[in-house]
Amino acid sequence: MEKEKTKLSKKKFAFQTEVFTGIRPTGNLTVANFAGAVAPLLALQKEGKKPLVFVADMHAMTDREPKIAKKYALEVVADYLALGLDPKKCHVFIQSSIGRQISLLTLYLMRQISVAELLRVPTLKDKLKKDQKEEGANALLANYPVMMAADILIQKSLRVPVGKDQLPHIEVAKLLARRFNRQYGEIFPVPEAQHLLPVNILSLRGEGKMSKTKPEGAIFLTDSPDQAIKKIKRAETAFAGEMPEILQSHILLVKSLAKKKGEVEKVDAIIKEHLSGKNVMKDFKELFSEVVEKFLLDFQAKRKDIAKDGGYLASVINEGNEIATINAERTLREVEKAMTK
Ligand code: TRP
Repeated sequence: MEKEKTKLSKKKFAFQTEVFTGIRPTGNLTVANFAGAVAPLLALQKEGKKPLVFVADMHAMTDREPKIAKKYALEVVADYLALGLDPKKCHVFIQSSIGRQISLLTLYLMRQISVAELLRVPTLKDKLKKDQKEEGANALLANYPVMMAADILIQKSLRVPVGKDQLPHIEVAKLLARRFNRQYGEIFPVPEAQHLLPVNILSLRGEGKMSKTKPEGAIFLTDSPDQAIKKIKRAETAFAGEMPEILQSHILLVKSLAKKKGEVEKVDAIIKEHLSGKNVMKDFKELFSEVVEKFLLDFQAKRKDIAKDGGYLASVINEGNEIATINAERTLREVEKAMTK
């Protein structure tokens, strides 16, 4: 029965995208961004899933000038490539390269959802409560989940790996796919969220999440090894035998940045001693520093090579843009035909 179903769905959709996800073009990434967003993507890539990845520069315009969004879009691709994204094993495109198609599908999808429903999306509700009054929030912000649905549906995506904070948006995409299909025929596969484990990396100083806004507790990918090591020296740790959240976060981070199995084993060995009551936090910090130094040097060397060879970045993006455009055009034609039949 299951088999039959998959056969049917293959026949039903002219094409589909197995794994699809978007990244936010924010500059100045930290090692926490690597652990939370990039490492899981590298794992999918390794599994041979050929994820289609895009930079959401149009979404970034909700709170940024288009000029800034454009600049960061290219930089974030260069960063991701230097972090290990491999154009032979995935495709990368820029959202605005299919800006016309995305805008049109967004418009068609907006007809399928009410203003009241949009205002009930938890992410928007939170934002309006916390940092923006309704008068100050622009309409693009309210429309964010609809454009995100357009991103996903135009590529006929099956699985969408996202952080926990994005799950309400995937629900909107599912709802819109179902409503559209019911009215105009089976055009969109209903996407499934693939929930990535939230990797909560804390500030080295233990003051909430590691973030750009607390630079003393954050290791930036652009930090020199010396700067990073200084921050690690001042990092909070734990009393012998104790396992507070901050130490858990450090362990997760070191393991995620470690390139060698041996380093992960060393972490485990030190932590075992720590839990048995020995004072080994100095050894832990040394290993932490070593791993971070290697990670940063490797990243920065690759990043420099990519910056030198402008043609490489352009060719990777062009190839991704081309695939995204073919898919988007195809879906849009199908949608418009169904709507005007
Ligand atoms: N909103 C996502 C984020 O902030 C980025 C994004 C935009 C996205 N469109 C998407 C992610 C489509 C997955 C699929 O992280």
